[in-house]
Amino acid sequence: MKMEKPTSTTKLFEISNKLLERAGPGSKTAAIVAGHRFDESQKPEDERICYDPYAIHFVSPEVLELNKDPQKAKAMLESLGDLGTLLLGLGNSTRARVRYFDDFVKTSIDKGISQLVILGAGYDTRAYRIEGLGSEDNIRVFEVDHPVTQEVKTEKIKEIFGAVRENVVYVPLDLMTENLGEKLLQAGYDKSKQTLFLMEGLLMYLQPETVDRILYFISKNSGKGSAIIFDYYPKSVVDGSSVLEVGKIAHDYLARIGEPLMFGIEEGLLEEFLAKRGFSHVCNVTSEDYKRAYFHGKNENRAVSSLLLFAHAVVE
Ligand SMILES: C[S@@+](CC[C@H](N)C(=O)[O-])C[C@H]1O[C@@H](n2cnc3c(N)ncnc32)[C@H](O)[C@@H]1O
Repeated sequence: MKMEKPTSTTKLFEISNKLLERAGPGSKTAAIVAGHRFDESQKPEDERICYDPYAIHFVSPEVLELNKDPQKAKAMLESLGDLGTLLLGLGNSTRARVRYFDDFVKTSIDKGISQLVILGAGYDTRAYRIEGLGSEDNIRVFEVDHPVTQEVKTEKIKEIFGAVRENVVYVPLDLMTENLGEKLLQAGYDKSKQTLFLMEGLLMYLQPETVDRILYFISKNSGKGSAIIFDYYPKSVVDGSSVLEVGKIAHDYLARIGEPLMFGIEEGLLEEFLAKRGFSHVCNVTSEDYKRAYFHGKNENRAVSSLLLFAHAVVE
């Protein structure tokens, strides 16, 4: 009998299964992103694109081991052929996203926000690592995520810091089935205050109706000068019609790990999309923009993926 040659997605699935086997019951994609932050943070200070000293606490023992054995990591990527190179680019884009969003939070603090709402916070530790977000700084941080992922996160935070910070409010909920506005207001969110809503690696996993509901809530229930920042894939990646190999693979792989892509924005239509939903001062950040901003010197030759775009806008 002729054996079927395993597809790239199957191989990727097998490798990631091994790496995530002991990652815990939370979101797999949250663990993958924590893995990127961890790996980048191990690099020398003048080389790393982003830095999260706490990411190490959120990765599986297999990821820790792999980081100590660069030859094994290289062989693993090479076993995926061209896909390995494409994934490296997507990973670099994810690391640039962390840096861009960190920088945006810092600028927003300087502009005077008094609330930061992080939707789909995963294992991100901005609330604990960005200067200006401490308990004494008068900025309330709301972290929203699926109850299971959030529990894994808060248990780890207590292990690392002894307790969760007083100014960080955890709001466990399923954004697709529960009412974000109601839960946020119950948790103490003040709709009259200037707020930054940060959605990193989130909107693509939500149904378009849910994305609309979230944006509607923000545009109608936030103080003057409030803003949003998020990242997105072009619609072609989400509906599986992308002509780019990495787009097709990302689509199939994410469906297989149970976190399928559901939302994308038609290329060139970001501004129109956001204007219709009550936002202005729209900024679209392409892979060329973030490559130019962050990848210099030793990082000059690191490829990024044109699939991942960032966006920010202000509530009208
Ligand atoms: C790709 S991870 C990104 C995590 C984090 N923002 C980061 O960048 O590290 C996606 C996150 O969105 C959360 N998420 C996805 N769908 C959700 C839903 N329906 N309700 C609440 N959270 C959701 C997942 O639990 C996960 O933490």
